[in-house]
Amino acid sequence: MTDWEERWSLEDTPWDKGAPAPPLVELLASDQGQKLKGLRVLVPGCGSGEDVRELARAGAVVTGLDISPSAVRHAGLKDPTTGAKFECASFFDWSSEPFDAIWEHTCFCAIELKDRIRYAEACARLIGHGGHLVGVFYLEPWAPGERPAPPPHPSEKDEIIELLAPNFVLRWDKIPSLAYPGREGREWLAVFERVDSDRGVAV
Ligand SMILES: C[S@@+](CC[C@H](N)C(=O)[O-])C[C@H]1O[C@@H](n2cnc3c(N)ncnc32)[C@H](O)[C@@H]1O
Repeated sequence: MTDWEERWSLEDTPWDKGAPAPPLVELLASDQGQKLKGLRVLVPGCGSGEDVRELARAGAVVTGLDISPSAVRHAGLKDPTTGAKFECASFFDWSSEPFDAIWEHTCFCAIELKDRIRYAEACARLIGHGGHLVGVFYLEPWAPGERPAPPPHPSEKDEIIELLAPNFVLRWDKIPSLAYPGREGREWLAVFERVDSDRGVAV
């Protein structure tokens, strides 16, 4: 199991590119992204908060959440002018008034496989009905033949759709045109709408 606080305190954070996720930049420039303006958005597993600040600059009211105190401290020190807020807690246990949207980027692939159901339940609990889970899912983090110890964990589109199905419906998706070098064609940009549960857990 990954000790995230240790990774952050040792500055062993190769995922941190010092810039917002390119698929988020692409989304914010599109008609889909324009709809995030003015909405309350939660970013779980926000790390140093690059995506949080980018969303805030685009006009969203954003809260970044991370389990690592060092990550949250680091995030809070970088450009405090955007108005973004940061909280330190586990996404699985944290409670709040429901948000209009969650932005997912490299949180889902970071958590243990056994916790994916808890991830889906947290999304359902923290997004109000009619709200959206908007995310770039890192489907295939490894080059062919490469199999280092996870995280990141790979995933498949159908698996994500099935996992979220009790509370979410896929409304829109694409393979993003923009990506960090090395991630081209390996990510999936998807928008899920929070709907009434017709099966699964009541949250
Ligand atoms: C791979 S990093 C990605 C960070 C950031 N999204 C980025 O792309 O730079 C995963 C992040 O999720 C955080 N994390 C892991 N499990 C978490 C949990 N249960 N609740 C909140 N944050 C978590 C870690 O501390 C880490 O900052």
